[in-house]
Amino acid sequence: MNLSYKNNLGLYIHWPYCESKCPYCDFNSHKTESINEEDWIQAYVNQLHTMKEMLLKYNVKFNKLNTIFFGGGTPSLMPLKVIEKILNTANKLFDFEEKIEITLEANPGSYEREKFLDINQMGINRLSLGVQSLNDTNLNFLGRKHNYKDAIIALELAKRTFSNVSIDLIYGLKNQKIKEWEIELNSIIKNFQPNHISVYQLTIEEGTKFYSDYKKGLLKIIDEDLSADFYDNTNSLLENFDYKRYEVSNHAKNNFECSHNLNYWNSNNWIGIGPGAYSRLWSSNNNNKRFEIENYKSPKSWLSKNIHNAEFKKISFIDNSETNIDILIMGLRLSKGIKINKLLDKKIIKNEKIINLINEKIININTERIKVNKNYMIKLNAILQQIIN
Ligand SMILES: C[S@@+](CC[C@H](N)C(=O)[O-])C[C@H]1O[C@@H](n2cnc3c(N)ncnc32)[C@H](O)[C@@H]1O
Ligand code: SF4
Repeated sequence: MNLSYKNNLGLYIHWPYCESKCPYCDFNSHKTESINEEDWIQAYVNQLHTMKEMLLKYNVKFNKLNTIFFGGGTPSLMPLKVIEKILNTANKLFDFEEKIEITLEANPGSYEREKFLDINQMGINRLSLGVQSLNDTNLNFLGRKHNYKDAIIALELAKRTFSNVSIDLIYGLKNQKIKEWEIELNSIIKNFQPNHISVYQLTIEEGTKFYSDYKKGLLKIIDEDLSADFYDNTNSLLENFDYKRYEVSNHAKNNFECSHNLNYWNSNNWIGIGPGAYSRLWSSNNNNKRFEIENYKSPKSWLSKNIHNAEFKKISFIDNSETNIDILIMGLRLSKGIKINKLLDKKIIKNEKIINLINEKIININTERIKVNKNYMIKLNAILQQIIN
């Protein structure tokens, strides 16, 4: 098996606070509270040092850091000093690759916009802006704190400040018409030409306010057929503007795919620090087994466990069959699919099922790669259920 793909190393930093909790969001995010900057710096730095020791102890093969991603929560609310200290420490410990991609997720509010220049000067070279919508009614429905005007100002400033700007959008709301959505998407592209666009259909996640509203019948969602139409029309529109769909919900201009997320989808090595973040790494000790390092989830317990020395919640080796399933599930999200030789054991795929799907032109397979055909990406979960042994 070719192991070279595992030598990339990404770093994810989780910042768990937001201005307020959006009703659809099940991320590990909490309404912001006053924090002690020095304590947080210390905890992140402790985790980075211990991570370096772990990489050596478990003999993880990697070159330099090729990506960093500040995610959340809302990392644009992070004090600048915390970002700076994390970047300096990471550089000292792991060395940055010359063309390292360093992303930070930002919300379009005014407080955050003022920081764009500073964070860019600190080395953040990719901004992922949570625009979500350019329609005030929809932004309001989604419980966002910013409005249309904020989004426009933030987009203009982001484009002027960063050479690589990505935006997140949510669509497929109950009262949204496909035509209206297309006009909205069209106008964002024509006016701002982001380098990368992530478009997510609204999903109702358990444990969120939307979930309880949905259960009580207070919130309606679109049906499967309409959802498929939304998806197809969105993909066609983006394709017409030369955005290549390289993953289920991610579209990029040439060479602007998100390298950090590609590390996940390609099952490479990554380190995760901060509340609830986890790392997945390949250990050369144990016959190249994959292992996982899990962090305490609640911000308060994470901080108290890491302020003196880094303490992780759990470190565990992952069963090879689970790793294999993970490689397949993550890899098939990519439009170009995965190299068959990445699978640890090809028996994971049910032969008789795959032959049917190939005959129905749902799956494409050659001597090198396996992929889900373009028109069936929206059914990926159902396809995976059928083919995994
Ligand atoms: C961690 S959030 C991004 C960070 C930033 N706090 C924000 O909200 O813009 C990642 C993205 O996931 C998407 N997202 C989160 N929950 C979703 C849901 N239930 N349905 C669809 N998209 C969702 C949103 O587009 C969001 O920008
Ligand atoms: S969607 Fe973003 S801003 Fe809203 S609660 Fe989740 S992480 Fe925070």
